[in-house]
Amino acid sequence: MTSDTEVSGDRDGIDRASETVNRLASGLPRVMAALQQLVRELRVSDDEWRRVIGFVSDVAAAGELGALSDVLGLSVIVDDNRPHRAGATQSDPEGPFHRPGAPLEDSPARICRDDEPGDRLIVSGRVRSTSGGPLPGSVVDVWHAAANGRYEHQDPDQPEWNLRRRVRADATGRYEFETVVPAAYHIGAADGPVGTLLRCAGRTPVRPAHLHYIVTADDHEPLTTQVFIAGDPWLDADIIGAVKEPLIADVMKTDGKRRLTFDVTLARLG
Ligand code: BEZ
Ligand code: FE
Repeated sequence: MTSDTEVSGDRDGIDRASETVNRLASGLPRVMAALQQLVRELRVSDDEWRRVIGFVSDVAAAGELGALSDVLGLSVIVDDNRPHRAGATQSDPEGPFHRPGAPLEDSPARICRDDEPGDRLIVSGRVRSTSGGPLPGSVVDVWHAAANGRYEHQDPDQPEWNLRRRVRADATGRYEFETVVPAAYHIGAADGPVGTLLRCAGRTPVRPAHLHYIVTADDHEPLTTQVFIAGDPWLDADIIGAVKEPLIADVMKTDGKRRLTFDVTLARLG
């Protein structure tokens, strides 16, 4: 004799007993009611609905469902729903362009080309634990767009893994890498369906200059966040609404070099 769980799991590969599936299923009637009301109120026609379905298919085919979630403001809400651990650095959405498995380099690293366009920048900081001490050997997985507003995977002129690295902190928990000052960019630059939607809706599809981080260390909760550049004129206009005050850092000039410091505190597990 099989249990209910095995029967439902065998039938369609979904474990209906899991809490996540139950919560998602319980939300379905509300999603349906909201969409039905909208379609009724707007008196959406056959032709318009076909275009909506075509648009969603295009977004999926272009691999932009994550970007759509971001620009609809949903990723930031999901991130805000996470329990914040006291003393840990503020998290922020991952965005759609992380590539796992970037080259791993010891600090200090260089993550850009010799002839990378843009102003050189040294980024550094300390990775610490909420329990107090530094986290030697912690890893900062960093990625950001080039001066032309494109990430390496969107731009045939950039070598693979350009402006993407996993930088391992030293024995004192300090990390450092050399790059260029990131630039603000239009996310529709690659002319995908999400950028097209925003343009049609008259919204400026801008992201202020930022670096993405995923920071990991043994026995600590991984942290996904973004670092923004103080003074960027687009800080109040982020299309995904991800700018948070504690994540804004200054670019300072010392010894003729531009430097940005961003310390990270990870929450100890357990
Ligand atoms: C980004 O963080 O790079 C990004 C976020 C949303 C849409 C496109 C790009
Ligand atoms: Fe980004």
